[in-house]
Amino acid sequence: MKQIVFATNNKHKLEEVRAIVGKYFDVLSLSDIGCKEDIPETGCTFEENAVMKAQYVKDKYGYDCFADDSGLEVTALNNEPGVFSARYAGEPSDSLRNIEKLMFNMQGVKERSARFRTCIALLYGHKEYLFEGCIEGNIIDTLRGTNGFGYDPLFVPVGYDITFAEMSSEEKNKISHRALATQKLIDFLTDKIDCEA
Ligand code: IMP
Repeated sequence: MKQIVFATNNKHKLEEVRAIVGKYFDVLSLSDIGCKEDIPETGCTFEENAVMKAQYVKDKYGYDCFADDSGLEVTALNNEPGVFSARYAGEPSDSLRNIEKLMFNMQGVKERSARFRTCIALLYGHKEYLFEGCIEGNIIDTLRGTNGFGYDPLFVPVGYDITFAEMSSEEKNKISHRALATQKLIDFLTDKIDCEA
């Protein structure tokens, strides 16, 4: 079976992708290929960071590879925290401090729109492909819900009256930015295999 690397060690993300493309690809994680180093993520956009991670693996380990980068963009904050979502309140990354900083910056702000975005970069053969997922929503001013992670307790998707953190993971995974981008990648990879067969 053809091997492909998903440049992550996040078990949840790996399971999600393996469950679908596992039939066609042997999906390896960073630890599976012995990559222990911190891959630089110094880009100014999600796209740049995703490509940077995938390129690092391709160059150093030679595998076809895909990598993702995600975050929250808040309109009234000039699309911050954006690529700094994980470390909005500084290093080391701390979800609660990030949430507190966002609530503080949004105090008294009327324009509450925001979106979560994911970009996946795939380096396959000699070509680069990008897949995007985006979900629009609004930032509320008090925390609601305990599921999920990151900014989920503050984000209500358009068309819903509950936050991501009040949804079950099944519900969130049907509509999330990550799910949308991942589905595009999966459709592409499965088509590719059908064409190559
Ligand atoms: P990553 O690139 O998927 O690791 O995401 C970077 C950061 O964006 C995370 O550490 C979170 O702060 C934020 N983020 C990304 N996706 C989500 C989500 O689905 N819910 C809440 N926060 C998220």
